[in-house]
Amino acid sequence: MELKEAIQDRRSIRRFGKKEVPREFIIELIELGHMAPSAGNLQARDFVVVEDQDTRRKLGRAALDQDFIAEAPVAVVVCANFERIAHYGVRGVTLYCLQDAAAAIQNMLLAIHDKGLGCVWVGAFDEEEVSRILNLPNFIRPVAILPIGEPLSQPEARKRIPVEELIHYEKW
Ligand SMILES: Cc1cc2nc3c(=O)[nH]c(=O)nc-3n(C[C@H](O)[C@H](O)[C@H](O)COP(=O)(O)O)c2cc1C
Repeated sequence: MELKEAIQDRRSIRRFGKKEVPREFIIELIELGHMAPSAGNLQARDFVVVEDQDTRRKLGRAALDQDFIAEAPVAVVVCANFERIAHYGVRGVTLYCLQDAAAAIQNMLLAIHDKGLGCVWVGAFDEEEVSRILNLPNFIRPVAILPIGEPLSQPEARKRIPVEELIHYEKW
């Protein structure tokens, strides 16, 4: 798939089939995510692979009952790592490590789509609860839950604000 086509055709998928997603693909996917840029190349991101359905059920509940997280055969929780970004002080912890994680997430969304699979970036969740479920150490902040599986829906493209309204030349 052409990159431009992948960017244009990707959709958030919230309905998944039961077909298994091989662990080899998940590893390849994380490798592609990890190719994304990172602040000072400190790579302040970690990935928790959740194959266990009961754990995914708990994650779904912690994510305001987004139960499709349990329906996908696997989920990857992309996290920011405060320890690895400590060199950059407050800006590192409040911004760079989140951007490191976000850059990886977008690579992963495109790679998932390229593979013919579906995913949605889930950001609405109770962070404390997710950290407890996954036993995350206190220097790890969960940024997004990515349920991954066979797509059972083909949503229309969501409307975008005309780009002219977003572009500002020289000054605001
Ligand atoms: C930071 C962030 C948080 C999001 N959180 C959720 C979420 O909790 N649940 C959900 O269903 N979609 C979530 N989304 C997906 C958006 O709803 C979706 O990207 C947007 O509606 C545009 O649709 P598209 O991805 O199909 O282009 C999130 C996306 C981002 C970038």
